[in-house]
Amino acid sequence: MKKVLFVCLGNICRSPMAHGIFEEMVNEAGLGQLIRVDSAGTASYHIGSLPDNRARQTCMTHGISLTHKARSFVKADLEQYDYVLAMDKQNLADIKQWATGKQKAQIQLMRSYDSLKPNTDVPDPYYGELEGFEEVYTMLNRCCAELLQEIVKDIESEK
Ligand code: 4NP
Repeated sequence: MKKVLFVCLGNICRSPMAHGIFEEMVNEAGLGQLIRVDSAGTASYHIGSLPDNRARQTCMTHGISLTHKARSFVKADLEQYDYVLAMDKQNLADIKQWATGKQKAQIQLMRSYDSLKPNTDVPDPYYGELEGFEEVYTMLNRCCAELLQEIVKDIESEK
C-alpha cells in the first residue's frame, strides 16, 4: 500500500482538486487497493469545509465529484504518507519545517512531475476567476498522470 498526500494552503482549491483527479486515475487503473489518497492544508482557516465551489464545478465538468472536507496538515502526516506533494514552493517550505530527514515521506513539489514546465508552482486560483481553476485542472491532470507512473514503478520494483 502506498499513501499519497496532496498539500496546499487552504485545502479548498488546489490540493482537493489534485486529490480528486488522482483518486479517479488510481481507480480507473484498478489500483484502488494499492494506493490511498488524501489532501490537507498548511493553514487552518477552512477546516471542515468542502472545496471551493469553483473547484467543485471545474472538476464536475470533467466527471469528478469532490467531497473532501478540509483538514490541516500535521507533522504525523510525514510518518503516515509515502509521498507528500506540495502545490507551491511556500507549501513545500512550510512542510519541510516539520521534516527530520528521517521521515517516511518523500516531500516533493507537485510540478516536479510536470515535464512540460517542471518545478514551477501550481498557482493559487482562489483570488482569480473560474478560468484559473480550469488551468489548474489541466496542469494537475498532467502531474497526476506522471506521478501515477512513478508510483506504479515503485510498486513494481518492490515486488
Ligand atoms: P488553496 O487556495 O491553497 O489552493 O486551497 C486558497 C484557499 C483559501 C485561501 C488561500 C488559498 N485563503 O486565504 O482563505
